Amino acid sequence: MTAMALVPGDAHPQLAQAVAALLREPLVPTLISAFADGETRIRIEAEVRDADVYILQPTSTPTNERLMTLALLAEAARAAGAARITAVVPYFGYARQDVRGNEGEPRSAQLAARVLRCAGIERLVTLELHTPALESAFEMPLVHLQADGLMLPAIRNRNLPHLTIVSPDAGGLRRAQRYATALAAPLAVVVKTRPGADVAVALQVLGEVRGRVCLIVDDMASTGGTIAGAAQALLEAGAAEVHALFIHAVMAPSALERICAASVRTVTTTDSVATAPDARVQLVSIAPLIAQTLARLARRPAIRSEATHVQES
Ligand code: R5P
Repeated sequence: MTAMALVPGDAHPQLAQAVAALLREPLVPTLISAFADGETRIRIEAEVRDADVYILQPTSTPTNERLMTLALLAEAARAAGAARITAVVPYFGYARQDVRGNEGEPRSAQLAARVLRCAGIERLVTLELHTPALESAFEMPLVHLQADGLMLPAIRNRNLPHLTIVSPDAGGLRRAQRYATALAAPLAVVVKTRPGADVAVALQVLGEVRGRVCLIVDDMASTGGTIAGAAQALLEAGAAEVHALFIHAVMAPSALERICAASVRTVTTTDSVATAPDARVQLVSIAPLIAQTLARLARRPAIRSEATHVQES
């Protein structure tokens, strides 16, 4: 059996440690620092020749640095003779920029995928990409995980009565539909427009929400504007309560305040990016899902954990 080498990046050491503990594998020591001029300096400080290497690095804020560090770790592993390099990127930054919105704009998501491929990454494990349409951009074997198996029990435990699942925009409908089906709840959608970068305006609620307990389901919160705007629109349309669930807490400093100020009663998210603990947030760890996936890819004995949903392409 090829030896497994778990290489942590610098974006999320806690998640890397949790995954390593579940797999009962040590983390490969790395040196990640910066030269005086700001260039990133990398060294993998253990033998990875002929190893099955897994580099764990969400490309969250600061996205460019995290992406470059991931690419440099892959290049270092390749130069050291790794047998195969898999990137484990639970949150894939740039995923929202997958189409040219306007003349003169890049397809940043596709470029980020190409950077990883050029660096020697042969396989990618990721979680809840902004859009499944991005799957083809990687041009490498992809394990695209969904967090439903971890999030649904957390929601069921809340015993929310008269539940309606709400997508805060048209783009999130498929995800919200999954939750609505699993929870046997009706579905509503908020019509959203973006008059500028990082500005979200909720225009209209489609679906019956009067007197209902609404759970907004989204892939991420960044400024918190989408969820806050949707919450306001739902309450104005007569919703009894609003709760929020999102997978990636890519949160700007004021995002949680903004969401809570919009009378959102509970917030449930994952640790796909490093997040400071906050009593207002229920944080569901994705470590069992990642560990179970890596065990399967590395043909290790299965790890007992919560139910997970795995899609591969
Ligand atoms: C947009 O299409 C995404 O699904 C999220 O709704 C959005 O990125 C959230 O960003 P923000 O919190 O800044 O509104």
